[in-house]
Formats: sequence, structure tokens, C-alpha cells
Amino acid sequence: RTKKVGLIVGSLREHSFNRMIAAAIPELEESIAFESISLAELPLYNEDLDHGDGPEPVRRFREAIARVDGIMIVSPEYNSGIPGVLKNALDWASTPGKTAALRGKPTGLVGATPGVKGTILSQQQIRQTLEAIRAHVLPFEKMYISQVMDKVDAERRLLTDETTRKYLKRYVQRFSLWIDQVQTLD
Ligand code: FNR
Repeated sequence: RTKKVGLIVGSLREHSFNRMIAAAIPELEESIAFESISLAELPLYNEDLDHGDGPEPVRRFREAIARVDGIMIVSPEYNSGIPGVLKNALDWASTPGKTAALRGKPTGLVGATPGVKGTILSQQQIRQTLEAIRAHVLPFEKMYISQVMDKVDAERRLLTDETTRKYLKRYVQRFSLWIDQVQTLD
């Protein structure tokens, strides 16, 4: 059966570099069915709202995660850390307890920035959060995209840099193997 992977982008802006990177991923690995999972409708986390299925956008978000075999997070770095929008979403996916949507889910991390340090610090924080949730983050492999504006076309719509495409493809292939490995852990 075809593997399904959900793509979560940690930026809400329309012309996000990270959204563009996420959009480039499906064509790099055609054996996987990718679908994007939006954070745009999620309310701010509030434990008072977190009972039963929770608010409708939260129910849909959790269900979208539950439906796929793995999650790839493609996120910017804000102030040397995880963007609030993404942390908020991960918190919603961390409850309730043992049936939390992200618990046990194979997860990969990608990040792009116009800066030179490639979202190292935000990825550390995302990894730390995912480990607290007991998601299975792809170990060791890292996918940092720095100076992203030099790796795209003039309209900033396409990832044109061949080296980045090659590394991204390799990362996605390793992530696909990781999904298989995690399934043998269960
Ligand atoms: C940034 N940016 C940024 N970049 C980085 O590499 N390290 C950082 O700590 C920060 N901090 C930061 C804070 C805030 C509030 C903003 C708005 C931006 C720059 C950031 O990488 C850039 O805006 C990206 O283009 C955002 O990603 P998207 O929206 O293009 O995917």
C-alpha cells in the first residue's frame, strides 16, 4: 500500500519559503502520497476547550495526523526558536494522553531560512517537543536549508537549487525508511 505522509508548515504566510519547500517535496518522491495539513484554523491552545473531540478545527487536525503514516514538519525559526503557531499545533496534537495524535508517529524535520544557520535552533526545540510527546523523530539526519532566497527561482515559487533538491530527496527517502523501522517497533 502507498505510504501517506502529512506535511505541516510552521509558517502561515502565503509566500512562505517553508511552504514552497513543502510544495517541492511530493515531486521528489513519487512513491509517497503527500497531503498538506493546515494550521491556519487552529485556535490557541486552551485546556478548558480540550475535552472530548475538542473544537472542530482541532478534531480535523488530529484526524488528519491520525490518517497518515508519518508527519514532515517544514518550519521557519523565529527568535532562535520554534514559531508559536507550530508549538500551539503540536500542543493540540499532544493530548489526550495515550491516544494523542502525534504519539508514536514517525516525524521528520525540515527548515528553511534566508539566514545562514539553517533553522538549527528551532529544529532543536521542535525535536525536544516531539520527544516529550513521544513522537518518533528521525534520529541523526538533519535537513537545514540556509540562504533559501538563493536556492529558488526569480518568482520565489520553485526550489531550483540542484544540491538542495538532492539532499531533500535523500532526506525524504531516509524518512520513508524510518517509517518502516518505527512500524516494526510497535
Ligand atoms: C525571523 N527570522 C529568523 N530567521 C532565522 O534564521 N532565525 C531567527 O531566529 C529568526 N527570527 C525571526 C523572528 C521573527 C518574528 C520573524 C518574523 C522572522 C527570519 C525568517 O527566517 C524569515 O522571515 C523566513 O522567511 C520565515 O519563514 P517563511 O515564512 O518564509 O517560511
